[in-house]
Amino acid sequence: MIILGIETSCDETAAAICKNGRILSSIVSSQSIHSQYGGVVPEIASREHERLLNLIVHNALNEAGTNLTDLNAISVTHGPGLAGTLLTGVTFAKGLALGLDIPLIPINHLEAHIYANFLADSSLKYPFVCLLVSGGHTQLWHVKKMNHYILLGETRDDAAGEAFDKGARIFGLGYPGGPAIEQAARGGNPCAYSFPRGLMNDDSLEFSFSGLKTSLLYFMDDYRESQTMKIQDVIASYQEAIVESLVEKMRRAIHITKTDTGVIAGGVAANERLRECLSESLPNIRILFPDLTYCTDNAAMVGYLGEQKINSGMVGTLEFDVKPNLSMS
Ligand code: KG4
Ligand code: ZN
Repeated sequence: MIILGIETSCDETAAAICKNGRILSSIVSSQSIHSQYGGVVPEIASREHERLLNLIVHNALNEAGTNLTDLNAISVTHGPGLAGTLLTGVTFAKGLALGLDIPLIPINHLEAHIYANFLADSSLKYPFVCLLVSGGHTQLWHVKKMNHYILLGETRDDAAGEAFDKGARIFGLGYPGGPAIEQAARGGNPCAYSFPRGLMNDDSLEFSFSGLKTSLLYFMDDYRESQTMKIQDVIASYQEAIVESLVEKMRRAIHITKTDTGVIAGGVAANERLRECLSESLPNIRILFPDLTYCTDNAAMVGYLGEQKINSGMVGTLEFDVKPNLSMS
């Protein structure tokens, strides 16, 4: 089966071709225009998708050596995300599916992030625990099998990606903040300063990052770079506080569920320090990370999950809407 995946939930315009579980092409256009505003401007993002989508889809088809008429199905993200940007992708996909008379599969963006791990290692077996860490979500899922997901815990305030993005803004680094913080922290001492780790003292599997951001704001009010204080150390320490919270909750989730496999999903999964600390803290657990290109938003995960849904009996439909607040439970 050859399936076209389309992703427009935020500021990445993406299309990919998946054939029998293998990705033949994956094109992602990240909208750099938002960096000048320090965050995604929804109206601009929608217009950029509208402008680029046709070209990106054709690039994906060309790179895969396929034509529109080779497609057996299309899958498209319909939530969660920005209403306007989702609408551009869903409207495009509906028109194309109708014109080609092939099934259209609506895809949950969060679920697609989780399934990106099957692209990293097709031998991944259920059940497993997934730490889902993106710009808008920080959640721990017990993934029992397809469509059977139990939410173990989530953030009470900011998402981990948001903590990176807001921290980067305070440090005067660019957007998106995660890669900028990761790069600026390289060589810094992660133990130089102690920033708060939220909700660590009970058995909770919930997260909290808003106190961390506030504490950084106060810290930077007093901060002056000197012989003894280096910004690189502050940034490394801030990153460490986020990473440590994530690793500790993942450790607890693995322990409580008695699972032997943990996977990471979403943009923050690209963070090297997080990967390193998870592997070190859980030496007897199989920990999987998607390839870097499949951590941040992409359509390969959407195409792959679309094919899995069809294989599990899901039928195509045009009767669905965008769902900006779509959840998995
Ligand atoms: O999954 P994603 O691409 O989009 C959403 O679905 O939200 O995640 C974007 C988030 C942003 O907050 C970005 O700062 C963060 O992922 N991110 C990272 C890294 N790369 C992207 N955070 C930490 N380290 C990274 N290397
Ligand atoms: Zn995402």
